[in-house]
Amino acid sequence: MKKLFALAVLCTGVFAAAWFSSCNNSSSDLSEKKKADSLAKAVERGRYLANHVAACIHCHSERDFSRFSGPVVPGTEGSGGLKYDSRLLEAIPGTIYAKNITPDKETGIGSWTDEEILRSITQGISKNGDTLFPLMPYVSYNKMAREDLLNIIAYLRTLKPIYKKVPARQLMIPISMAYPAPALKPSVEGNSKPAETDPVKYGEYLITIADCATCHTPFEKGAFNFARIYAGGNLFTHEDFRVMSANITPDSTGIGSWTEEQFLNKFTLYRDAKNITAYPGKQNTVMPLADYSGMTDSDLKALYAYLRTVKPMPNKINKYPGTDDKEWKMGDMKVVK
Ligand code: HEC
Ligand code: HEC
Repeated sequence: MKKLFALAVLCTGVFAAAWFSSCNNSSSDLSEKKKADSLAKAVERGRYLANHVAACIHCHSERDFSRFSGPVVPGTEGSGGLKYDSRLLEAIPGTIYAKNITPDKETGIGSWTDEEILRSITQGISKNGDTLFPLMPYVSYNKMAREDLLNIIAYLRTLKPIYKKVPARQLMIPISMAYPAPALKPSVEGNSKPAETDPVKYGEYLITIADCATCHTPFEKGAFNFARIYAGGNLFTHEDFRVMSANITPDSTGIGSWTEEQFLNKFTLYRDAKNITAYPGKQNTVMPLADYSGMTDSDLKALYAYLRTVKPMPNKINKYPGTDDKEWKMGDMKVVK
């Protein structure tokens, strides 16, 4: 404190005209450098979350399903166009397209303010006031710490702007009926990020912002049955394969017998590109494992720690049901170019 004060006196002293300018410069250089460092840190955290945890990029890019888990096609990051419909997943009443979230001013979000982007990610309200279909997991992102959200926005601003118009969605029901109105907090101001030293709490935070629940919670009689959260059993019918989401509760029919190492392997196996590149045939998956494999070991351990604490739910799953069954409808998850 004393030192700072002395420096200030020196800098502003009458006999220190020369000092003044040099002090001024070096302190502003310093604060510029600090700013640049903290922006770089924010972008790096945002990149990590958007690609490997909240997985914004896997939904908002083209994906190559001739490879395992449909890795993102390089060069299309954020450009949108992925199509989701009721043939892919019964829970989708119509046809919905992921939007262009690159900084392109005309077809992307380049002209949106941070607040407008924040509102769409956490409240599901687009810049023009439209309510977004909750396949875009804003119900989960509504629980994300504001700082993490701002980091993601800072990262999105660094994406290559891509000019690409995405078709308008076609819903068979009014958007207000899409799901029972989710309880959204009007602001994310009070959200906090638990300390990483508490793996169970931090794992709960990660599983929420990764939105593992949408795929892994049974969709029964027109609604997600959260009383059986993580019990799995949703059928995804892709154009080339179909797969059912697994039971990831600690029941014996779920992952109750899995060790932490086995759980980590489920993800880390795909850090090796050859395990993604090999054509998986009918044993493919919609779980974005190519993206999740970039999660740190400690974040994966936190997910495992949390999943040990959820209620065990009996639900025996055949992950690849009736692959030879001629009756099954082909799904449609093609990308619109
Ligand atoms: C499960 C797939 C999925 C994930 C994951 C996802 N989105 Fe989306 N997102 C969508 C879909 C689909 C829409 C369009 C919804 C509609 O048309 O009603 C959308 C819409 C948006 C919009 C609104 C754009 C506009 O023009 O209205 C923004 C912004 C956005 N997403 C950003 C993100 C960010 C940031 C993340 C990660 C934190 C993310 N999304 C994760 C599927 C996803
Ligand atoms: C887009 C849908 C989707 C998302 C998102 C998703 N999963 Fe999955 N998950 C599946 C499907 C489908 C399977 C079964 C096929 C497979 O093993 O990949 C599966 C399988 C698993 C398995 C293997 C269990 C077994 O018995 O073989 C684990 C563990 C798992 N998921 C955990 C998670 C976690 C943790 C998250 C969030 C970080 C997550 N999943 C997000 C769809 C999804």
